[in-house]
Amino acid sequence: MATARESTIDAMRAHLAEPSSRGIADAVTAALRSGELSAGDLLPPVRQVAHRLQVSPTTVSAAWSLLSRAGAIRTDGRRGTRIASLEQRGPARYRQALETRPAFALDLATGVPDPLLLPDLGPAVRKIRTGSGPSSYLEAPVLPELEAQLRATWPGEPERITVVDGAMDALDQVIGQFVRPGDRVVVEDPTFPQILDRLEAAGAVAVPVAVDRHGMRSDALAEALSGRVRLVVLQPRGHNPTGATLTPARVGELCRALADHDCLVIEDDSAGDLSDHGPVSLARRLPARTVHIRSFSKSHGPDLRIAAVGGPASLIDPLVERRLLGQGWTSRLLQQVLLELLRDPAGVRAVADARVEYAQRRRLLADGLAAEGIDLPDGEGLNLWLPVVDEAAALVLLASRGIGAAAGRPFSAAASPEPHLRVTCGLVATDHEHLAVQLAAAARAPGWSGPR
Ligand SMILES: Cc1ncc(COP(=O)(O)O)c(C=O)c1O
Repeated sequence: MATARESTIDAMRAHLAEPSSRGIADAVTAALRSGELSAGDLLPPVRQVAHRLQVSPTTVSAAWSLLSRAGAIRTDGRRGTRIASLEQRGPARYRQALETRPAFALDLATGVPDPLLLPDLGPAVRKIRTGSGPSSYLEAPVLPELEAQLRATWPGEPERITVVDGAMDALDQVIGQFVRPGDRVVVEDPTFPQILDRLEAAGAVAVPVAVDRHGMRSDALAEALSGRVRLVVLQPRGHNPTGATLTPARVGELCRALADHDCLVIEDDSAGDLSDHGPVSLARRLPARTVHIRSFSKSHGPDLRIAAVGGPASLIDPLVERRLLGQGWTSRLLQQVLLELLRDPAGVRAVADARVEYAQRRRLLADGLAAEGIDLPDGEGLNLWLPVVDEAAALVLLASRGIGAAAGRPFSAAASPEPHLRVTCGLVATDHEHLAVQLAAAARAPGWSGPR
């Protein structure tokens, strides 16, 4: 009778398309998808796998590293390497990037909008009609007037638009609904850490694809699509952390790269109304498989907890149905507040003013950095992605000057990403030149190389 170890290797061998580290990693994820391997299973020792698959132990170790970076396996010292357990997965990268620490005089790690640039909720709240709640728990989850308002600026004409409790809720629902353990999911490199955490919790394998100043690179996407991919997650505007926005040309290239593949596309438009560009989406070209999420957190306030999600009925209806097993819908009271803010000239003006102010803050800091010899690509949104020599050294230097920033590592699923800091420039209202000098010094700070 085959031992557990041998049958694990047999399952891998059955799915092995090529004897490379990528091929072995793909074989493990395929075995996970098919149910031949599951959470908690012990993987056989590297040498045994290498011997049976007729590859070198280095190749198997490299495959284990790929799987470990993607969160699919965990090594626990002498107890060996196991398929990661889904229950233990939480927002680890997200906490690592955002959790603050000592009270900084200037905390630029947070990624949140400047409270002073948010529209005043007071007048909108006072206009809420109370007592007009749903007549049935099965009523449509989105106010018809809000849906009409959203459709007026939505990219394309989706069959369905619904409203959820923020983009993170939308991502949670979509990934929970459509991603299974072992699925390969293309993500931007870098990307928002919470996306990586959520994929890890789903047992998915994140496949990082490089981003340039126009967003996800289509050549790198085409390469990632050479293996089977379930989902592509991208940010169309004001990419967090780099600030990139997809150009029409890039949208076309990405659609061409995706044309012969049947994977889903999830667009996380967290910049939303703060973007200087009109709505951007692959949905016009790929309407049957694109879900577009628009958050109102950055433009109208994170505590509104509202995002809209649009897409084909085949993808949105299951989400709406699934929600009926949980929260059901997003409060219509909050929907009324958002609707009022989107209609009211003062609300619209406040968001337009914030857009101009954020662009100015970003430009002033980028100009200051350029004067220090650090040229960053153009971008928009609340953050700058600052290349540094060493993340820890840069953070320590900034902390010693009362400035907080986020380490770049949690933003990447790559094996060895270039060191960066994410700096929430949207919170910097004054003294840009002075801050640029401090950031440039931090960017140059050498890492500790130990005693000589
Ligand atoms: C790219 C990205 N997606 C999602 C979110 C979360 O958005 P929400 O507050 O709508 O949940 C953020 C917030 O920083 C973000 O930057």
